[in-house]
Amino acid sequence: MKIIITKNYEELSKVAANEMAETIKSNPKAILGLATGGSPIGMYKELIRMNKEGEIDFSTITTVNLDEYIGLSGEHTQSYRYFMNDNLFNHINIDKKNTYVPNGLAENIEEECKNYDAKIADLGGTDVQLLGIGNNGHIAFNEPDQELVAGTHLTGLTEDTIKANARFFDSIDEVPKTALTMGLGGIMKSKKIIVIASGEGKAEAVKAMVNGKISTNMPASMLQMHRDVVVIIDEAAAKLL
Ligand code: F6R
Repeated sequence: MKIIITKNYEELSKVAANEMAETIKSNPKAILGLATGGSPIGMYKELIRMNKEGEIDFSTITTVNLDEYIGLSGEHTQSYRYFMNDNLFNHINIDKKNTYVPNGLAENIEEECKNYDAKIADLGGTDVQLLGIGNNGHIAFNEPDQELVAGTHLTGLTEDTIKANARFFDSIDEVPKTALTMGLGGIMKSKKIIVIASGEGKAEAVKAMVNGKISTNMPASMLQMHRDVVVIIDEAAAKLL
């Protein structure tokens, strides 16, 4: 793992955007694996700026997102499809037909998962996968457990995650309890992985991801087995390293 420690969130966002931009510049047809949540918002703003200033072009780029809540349509303001449109896709020159987010309203969930993995395989896998990390060490919605699943699958969210995500909803009762998520197999197959984390609340999870034993109870620790991971964290998140 290559670790980059930045002064603050702003610098983290710029460094992460530059990493992503490198992939886009070196391969105009790159397949980007993207994440939602608070961590990547600054990075997406920076990518939007670069695109508007003509530094990077998204016209032939494809994106694949990690996860989506079950039961929320793409128009729901808390859905991850809405988040991606609002924080990135609506502001760059990407063709939305080339942006994939699992469908949380799919009638046949098993089929949706199978098709999502087939789509990723069809695209040749992701060239780079962006990840945030949960306070409990989850990546995408692969929560700490005795076993982890390789493919895209339906999962329940832990109390920790529901609490952490309640900040985006009017009340905790509105947070969906289940989601579709890419599995560890899909994530680990990416050619390169970028993990971003900011703030003291992430320090324990970051320490376990970087230095801890590899365990399904700490899904992010699995990343130690990937050959090209860049961890970009601010000083607060790096506090326990
Ligand atoms: C989001 C995702 C999650 C988040 C994680 C951190 O697509 O897959 O694993 O990356 O929960 O969330 P934030 O960035 O909000 O702290």
